[in-house]
Amino acid sequence: MERTVYGVVGAATVLYFSLQLLLHLTQDKREPTALATSIPFLSPIFGMSKKKSKFYIELRDKYRLPIYTLRLPGSRLYVINSSALISAVQKQHRVLAFMPIIAKGSIKVSRFSKTGAKIISTNTNGEDGEGGYVNSFHDAIHPAVSPGKNLDAMNRLMLGLVAAQFDHEAAHGNQNVKLFEWIKQQIGQATTDSVYGPGNPFRDSAIEKAFWTFKGGMSTLILDFPDWAAKDAIKALDTGAAALEDYFKADLHRKGTALVQARFDHSSAHGMPLNDIARSEFTNLVALLANTVPASFWMIYHIYSDPQVLADCRAELASAIIFTNGKNVIDMSQVKSSCPIFLSTFKEVLRHHSTTVAAREVMEDFLLNDQYLLKKGSTVMMPGPVQHTFEDVWGADVNAFNYKRFAVPDQHKFTASFRAFGGGSTLCSGRHFATTEILAFTAVMLMRFDVKPAAGRWVQPTENKVDFWEATAGPDDDVEVEIGPVKGRNAEGAWQFTLSESDKPIELSAEDMLAGKQ
Ligand code: HEM
Repeated sequence: MERTVYGVVGAATVLYFSLQLLLHLTQDKREPTALATSIPFLSPIFGMSKKKSKFYIELRDKYRLPIYTLRLPGSRLYVINSSALISAVQKQHRVLAFMPIIAKGSIKVSRFSKTGAKIISTNTNGEDGEGGYVNSFHDAIHPAVSPGKNLDAMNRLMLGLVAAQFDHEAAHGNQNVKLFEWIKQQIGQATTDSVYGPGNPFRDSAIEKAFWTFKGGMSTLILDFPDWAAKDAIKALDTGAAALEDYFKADLHRKGTALVQARFDHSSAHGMPLNDIARSEFTNLVALLANTVPASFWMIYHIYSDPQVLADCRAELASAIIFTNGKNVIDMSQVKSSCPIFLSTFKEVLRHHSTTVAAREVMEDFLLNDQYLLKKGSTVMMPGPVQHTFEDVWGADVNAFNYKRFAVPDQHKFTASFRAFGGGSTLCSGRHFATTEILAFTAVMLMRFDVKPAAGRWVQPTENKVDFWEATAGPDDDVEVEIGPVKGRNAEGAWQFTLSESDKPIELSAEDMLAGKQ
């Protein structure tokens, strides 16, 4: 028995030192420093799965390096802390590319036919010139979601829907709801109705449910679990795709917004089979809802749970409302231009709850900033939460929720480090639509309803269950609340939104900030 124990310990020791040696010998001196890990090749996997994006914050604080290497079995991750190096990466979008990652990911997640998969994986990185399905996707949808008449039309529809939904809710009087579930339904309906139009397949609760089941199982598809282990997600995907296929067959997208039409036309132009177009559309809903829902939840949570935040936001919003012809009219253009505390609260929500980690594939050996060798086939990772928690940028209260943080004259210094919508070639193209929706939803909610925790006091839920691919964390557990109409201040009257001006871009990223200065 004793000999067996000595044998096992001996073998483990030899294995450990062999792996350390392997790591040492295969790491080029010019590569970013490889972090010493307790179990070579495996510790980073445990750290990432247990601590999620907090893992990178811990490593930043422990080693204080601008960039470092994490070695995994068969691959290398280069993790970047320095914002200057992030800019350098973003300038190299062909050598340090995102599109090959998205192509591989979308094939796994959407389970395209062979034809569809071939179309997606052709010319992903512009290697054969212009065109290529994923390579041209951004430009194809850009006109539909950038500030201008298409975005205004989609916003107007969405605002009308939000107003109508709240009329319906107000008619219920006081009600007890699970806050996250309730917001999921409200935002889900308003978003899908405005994007898909009168034929919206997600009005069918079975299809809506299929989407959330699919989203819950997406990691099993990305990580290539066997079909039996991913069966719920696969079934939900097939159900959603069948509904969308019927929607497209009946040409109902022609009554939807420019966004759904642009996506359909882009896929058709590349010869995608209809069922694959439907699969792609179903998975695209993740971009539309997966961040907007948790961001709206945290807005509501942070504002209602602090009476001072609530009072300040309500006072600002009151100035954007006029009472006319028996109606409260809230001007979203004015909300965006004249409610700095409310806008700041939104950005602070995203700074706190963003979990985004931007990734790039290294297409060939490359010397970043003439200094760091990045090896072909490796992955560059740029965790947003690292940028969101530098004390020298955000100040001594970096870990506090300071709702006025962005409402200062020199807020540019914060915006430059704000990565909730990503940056560079993968900067979120839906950020303006999402922002208008979240602000509109929250604004009317604040003015029409009081929200009280059923437990008597607010307790902030944890957010450890967030999946590794998600960009905004939702709560681990729902919060039970009582929602009831606000009395007085004409709040009981009908409500309506206007957009007095075309949707102007507000500063949601370093890119918006530079565009505004030009
Ligand atoms: C609060 C809401 C949202 C947040 C926090 C958010 C966040 C992000 C982030 C972090 C990225 C970059 C991903 C990366 O670099 O790996 C991204 C990309 C993207 N997002 Fe969003 N997003 C939001 C809402 C939306 C909405 C509503 C849409 C659709 C209308 C959308 C469409 C996209 C698309 C298409 C991309 C890929 C880049 C491109 O081709 O434009 N997002 N988003």
